Amino acid sequence: MGYEPIWLKQAPLPAGAEHPASIAEAVELELSVLRSLSEAFVWSYLVTEALPEEGYEVLVGEGKADILGGSYAGVLYGIFDAERQLLLTDTVVSVSERPASPLRMLNHWDNADGSIERGYSGLSFFFRDGVLSVNDRTFAYARLCASVGINASVINNVNVFKDATWLITDRYLPVLRKLAECFGAYGIKLYLCVNFAASIEVGGLASADPLEPEVAEFWKKTVAHIYEVIPDFGGFLVKADSEGRPGPYTYGRTQADGANMLAKALAPFGGKLIWRCFVYNCSQDWRDVTTDRACAAYDTFRPLDGAFDENVILQVKNGPVDFQVGEPVSPLFCGMKNTNLMLEVQAAQEYTGQQKHVCYLIPMWKDVLRFHTCAYEKADRVSDIVCGAHRPGGNCGIAAVINTGDDDNWTGADLAAANWYGFGRLCWKPQLSAEEIASEWAGLTFGTDSAVRKILVKVLLASYGIYEKYTAPLGIGWMCNPNNHYGPNVDGYEYDRWGTYHRSSCKAIGVDRTGTGTGYSHQYPEALAAKFDNPETTPMAHMLFFHRLPYTYVLPNGKTVIQHIYDTHFEGVEELMDLIESVVTVQGLIPEKEYTRIMERFAMQLASAKEWRDRINTYYCRMSGIGDAKHRKIYAVSEEDLTYPEA
Ligand code: GCU
Repeated sequence: MGYEPIWLKQAPLPAGAEHPASIAEAVELELSVLRSLSEAFVWSYLVTEALPEEGYEVLVGEGKADILGGSYAGVLYGIFDAERQLLLTDTVVSVSERPASPLRMLNHWDNADGSIERGYSGLSFFFRDGVLSVNDRTFAYARLCASVGINASVINNVNVFKDATWLITDRYLPVLRKLAECFGAYGIKLYLCVNFAASIEVGGLASADPLEPEVAEFWKKTVAHIYEVIPDFGGFLVKADSEGRPGPYTYGRTQADGANMLAKALAPFGGKLIWRCFVYNCSQDWRDVTTDRACAAYDTFRPLDGAFDENVILQVKNGPVDFQVGEPVSPLFCGMKNTNLMLEVQAAQEYTGQQKHVCYLIPMWKDVLRFHTCAYEKADRVSDIVCGAHRPGGNCGIAAVINTGDDDNWTGADLAAANWYGFGRLCWKPQLSAEEIASEWAGLTFGTDSAVRKILVKVLLASYGIYEKYTAPLGIGWMCNPNNHYGPNVDGYEYDRWGTYHRSSCKAIGVDRTGTGTGYSHQYPEALAAKFDNPETTPMAHMLFFHRLPYTYVLPNGKTVIQHIYDTHFEGVEELMDLIESVVTVQGLIPEKEYTRIMERFAMQLASAKEWRDRINTYYCRMSGIGDAKHRKIYAVSEEDLTYPEA
């Protein structure tokens, strides 16, 4: 299978170019690309300690441009900046840049057999049938990542099974070394997910107890050997005690005991230990209305604030539950002042249309990053925290569960590549607007024809809001089909064990998560708790996340809950149809192959959006017995069963 250069298509490498064996070679190679793009400047570069390690300056003078970097990686980023400027504006101006976030990381959920958990773009391009390979595509991947500033990649699934448990052994280390060298040539560090029970499964020990000296010794030896083979190895990412994966709880130990044991093995080599906070009870009884999954991560980790070693970073999903549309920001960002934190977002659109629906996630990620945690007097946004404003030392950052696979266009949907591109750009510079990022991506991918660019930017910017409108209402989440998480199923998760309930009755909908409900809202600092406790001050996007409300409750926009549900679901589909029509106007200006692929996805999206609209509207019409004030088509029951609000 081939692969396309997507946003680097206008900056091809010279024909027959060899893969760079070092970052110095990558710089030379990329400089040759720059020279081929513009002869108007004499290009040169310099590595200088005067700049921060990954920072750069492009200094444009009369007929010349110098690229200064704090390291070769900095120079490389500077060259990509100049390439981007040339392609988008035909010229280059001086800039001075440094990355906001120290770790700008991709999390691949690739399994050793080649499948990808929640992957919607084909199979893995790293693994196939237990074999890991390094090839042209791996280099192309590294180049794409570096071009948007990504500097770390975890290549395997957080759920580490079977062959993947052996990645830390000599069965894989020689090829991992090659991969680390390929990545290293583009300033990217290789990380692995590890199985917390590897001391048993690989080491042959009877235990994985983190306080058992033998277990700690196993990890010390294992890590020392990894660094012998791969001197610039990045570290580990761990999913423990979550959804059936092993962890310290089995031995009555804390999450800190588990993380610190691994961190101590990595510390002598400068390795980092990234520990996920996605820990909750996934065997809940749906009859139990006192346990609230949203509370789990904070309840687990808040008492451990300050108990983690310096090279441990806790990786926190953006919301308290699981990448649902309309989740509030995780309160862990407010409550862990003495712990290194990393934000985890999901570019793979598991719950946002699985790369069949256009859903540009940058606006949502920006909302998360600019959220005021109210935990500090100054610099209290999530972006400040994950960029190290309060805990300098570089042990923080942003990770995306990434949306790539071995499809020719990498992301299945052409437009989904904007999420990969945008993730890198946003980590580098969170203050870039969603529109700027979309416009850059569209210009690089489809050229600078203003009609095309304008339409694509419009489509991307509107997409999240539209998706939100026709799916689960007002931040309630989880109305999807179980397991595959695609398409509507209002009660799909209602009587299940996953802690994911909407508890709709004939009168009301939602879970009361206020101080008088499950208490979730009080995991936030007082000012936020007060805001979320009151439906009049709760953002509409999270309304039913925090409150259980009668269908007749009048929302801040003046509509009743039920009418808001109807209106948004009808509008979502209508707005999607308008969007599709606007793309039709640029047919012929977008290459046919891409245009056809985009239209095929739109057809799937529209069919699915209609299904969402009709199922949600019908369900709530039947449940509430209240008709649509605008009398649009709902597949309700007989008219006699319905009451209508007075006009
Ligand atoms: C979700 C997802 C799983 C994944 C998990 C995680 O629950 O559906 O496939 O393993 O998140 O983030 O660990």
